[in-house]
Amino acid sequence: MSESVPADGGASAGSLGLGAQILDWADQLAGHSDQANSLTVAYLTRAHQTAAAEIAGWMIEAGMQVEIDAVGNVVGRYSAQDPAAKVLLTGSHFDTVRNGGKYDGRLGILLPIAVVKRLHEHGIRLPFHLDVIAFAEEEGLRFQSSFLASSALVGAFDPAWLDALDDDGVSMRDAMRAAGLPGTEEAIRALRRDPARIAAFIEIHIEQGPVLLERGLALGVVTSIAGSVRMTASVIGQASHAGTTPMTMRRDAAAAAAEMTLAIESRCAQAPSLVGTVGMLNVVNGASNVVPGRCDFSIDIRAADDATRDEAVVDVLRVCEAIAQRRGVAMSFARTMAVPSAPCAEPLMDLLAACVERVGVPHFRLPSGALHDAMMLSRITNTCMLFVRCGNGGISHNPAETVAVEDVDLAGLVFLDFLRNFRA
Ligand code: HGY
Ligand code: MN
Ligand code: MN
Repeated sequence: MSESVPADGGASAGSLGLGAQILDWADQLAGHSDQANSLTVAYLTRAHQTAAAEIAGWMIEAGMQVEIDAVGNVVGRYSAQDPAAKVLLTGSHFDTVRNGGKYDGRLGILLPIAVVKRLHEHGIRLPFHLDVIAFAEEEGLRFQSSFLASSALVGAFDPAWLDALDDDGVSMRDAMRAAGLPGTEEAIRALRRDPARIAAFIEIHIEQGPVLLERGLALGVVTSIAGSVRMTASVIGQASHAGTTPMTMRRDAAAAAAEMTLAIESRCAQAPSLVGTVGMLNVVNGASNVVPGRCDFSIDIRAADDATRDEAVVDVLRVCEAIAQRRGVAMSFARTMAVPSAPCAEPLMDLLAACVERVGVPHFRLPSGALHDAMMLSRITNTCMLFVRCGNGGISHNPAETVAVEDVDLAGLVFLDFLRNFRA
């Protein structure tokens, strides 16, 4: 890289002033939503497609060649002079949870675009291709299919997902075709990247927790990403009249699910990084005057190491079965996702740590309890992650999610410095 960017990566300039642009883009992007009064962007909805188009436009303005790939990822390339150069990948997801925040995933797309735009304006090329990928799906909202977008790049897209149905009975294949994508196994298989061509993957993401906030640090270097197991559970009791069924004769599926929820909470409080969540609870055909006959719920269990998590999963299944038996209800489980924990690469963590120190932030390392696209990419290349402090007590998956413009400025400087010093 040449002269126009300060030799210290921009730190002497105090700020590249990218934060304001990035937050402005995040506000604009939040204008695309499936719901009128909240930010919800599920895979390949109308809002999802218009959001993708807006991101593609910003990438083009930033001097990138852009394509929308067969799973709907928006891929922008800032080309090196040498066509044979390796590719540094960066990016994150632009889908959201229901009623989510503006920065989860999106910060890791918009920040690299802003940095590339600045490089382009100064006529600076990198010695490697830089691909900024806006991943189409990470949250699993529409098809319970987390990571379908990044899994396609590492050859882990399960073709059975094409038959998955959303709540309206639309298959993923049909949703893809309706969005103008081929919706075929072959097209998706062709997205697999050749590991020999990839230099690394770096993801920038808001922390989504309170650790950096409590320590007064704008940035942190991620050490590893917790592995997660997700299941759906179904409790079948007997629906009956709420006024006439004696308390001793009920087979109440919702009461059983409630007891199971508390048991999961208590088991998952027993190890430091272990967490367990029942995030969806649905009384099927529920009514105020009917003893619940069926209750479906979700289970998400995570820990920094896979052994701790797997022991908890075994215990949780056993305790739920025992509760079901005692209450005379039937139950079944289906595993919807299992991803192993993903350690970040030491040399990349060291490089990132040096960049963080150069912008004057004491360097601090922390694990991620949230899942990230980097987990998938770690199957084919070395990965690292930069966390940006989350405001408002560290809340995320909530519209109150926020970041400070000064912190985003610093993250922009760090990313630029990383690009300057990364050797493919
Ligand atoms: O669930 C997760 O950790 C991620 O936000 N999808
Ligand atoms: Mn999320
Ligand atoms: Mn995210």
